[in-house]
Amino acid sequence: MAASATLFASNDLLAQKTLREAYKDYFPVGVAVAPRNLSGPEAELIKQQFNSITPENAMKMGPIHPEENRYNWQDADAIVDFGVTNGIKVRGHTLCWHSQAPRWFFTDSEGKDVNREVLLARLKQHITDVMTRYKGKIYAWDVVNEAVPDTGKGIYRESKFYKIIGEDYIQKAFEYAHAIDPEAKLFYNDYNTESTAKRAKIYQLVKKLKDKNVPIHGVGLQGHWSIYEPSQAELEKSIKTFADMGLAVQVTELDVSVYAKEHERRAKKETDKSVYTDEMMEKQSAHYKMLFDTFRKYKGTVTGVTFWNVSDRSSWLDNFPVPGRKDYPLLFDESYKPKRAFEGVVNF
Ligand code: G3I
Repeated sequence: MAASATLFASNDLLAQKTLREAYKDYFPVGVAVAPRNLSGPEAELIKQQFNSITPENAMKMGPIHPEENRYNWQDADAIVDFGVTNGIKVRGHTLCWHSQAPRWFFTDSEGKDVNREVLLARLKQHITDVMTRYKGKIYAWDVVNEAVPDTGKGIYRESKFYKIIGEDYIQKAFEYAHAIDPEAKLFYNDYNTESTAKRAKIYQLVKKLKDKNVPIHGVGLQGHWSIYEPSQAELEKSIKTFADMGLAVQVTELDVSVYAKEHERRAKKETDKSVYTDEMMEKQSAHYKMLFDTFRKYKGTVTGVTFWNVSDRSSWLDNFPVPGRKDYPLLFDESYKPKRAFEGVVNF
């Protein structure tokens, strides 16, 4: 038996349902991956537990399209090929995001801001090239990511896309995407969606799109939560708010931090210790159970749940919001074994 299979057999994981088996009548259970996850024990765990994958970084505007006339397809191709070869669905992430859009998108040969027409043409070309390459292999796309600000009255983050094109950059992105692949499910994706104020802004943004018959099919609740949030009531309010608009809801980047949630990076303080106590583990188990009990309650509306990273061995939260403070946010521990929280998620 291969080392990785022995690893999983030894901890009785095979005696338990896997995530994909437990949820086969509800929704695909996915995980964000990088090329380094596509071989060795992590690849075995992914194939055994998940039936959907999302490129963590490989399909973002900067990594995949670093210069106007140069694409870097290698990592995205490896992830899509892994999905297709193993019969695993693939979510595309993300066609338009201010945070990792390379500078060349917005500047002319003299380094000055381009105008609306030029930026729209570049956005259209990017979406056309990327979606054409993976057409038929990617079933859902995060078309626009995090366009709504956390603070202030405006519903549009004042990104370069917004400042140069105007608010209709979002509409255009969805229309460009739908024209390339009418079969793909197109999502607006954001975090902190259980905050009353932010959820209301996202509702306004999505309502404008719906009122203009823009081809949007769902909203992605990223799900970067903690053992202290969200409450079940707030989670249900988010799901119902967007479901009542006739939209699908997916949890697209799920992790449950063992520390209080913070959305801004900060320096490490003396009090920031990397700890995973029994109390944290218990709270995390109860929280994951509540989350999945709620997801199942909205069967047919919640059409996918994707974890952000494979196991506690490596999480983006190990360096955010506090550089160097290890987090333990997932269902598999640092040795890829199921944690206590796993039980309450697959047994219902
Ligand atoms: O690839 C380079 C590498 O060549 C370089 O040596 C290294 C050191 O600077 O950086 C590497 O790129 C890093 C990349 O992750 C790949 O590891 C970037 O600096 C780093 O900023 C990037 O962080 C990612 C972050 O998005 C920003 O794009 C995280 O891995 C990723 O988990 C995180 O995911 C986002 C979602 O896409 C959107 N929702 C929020 C979520 C968390 O921020």
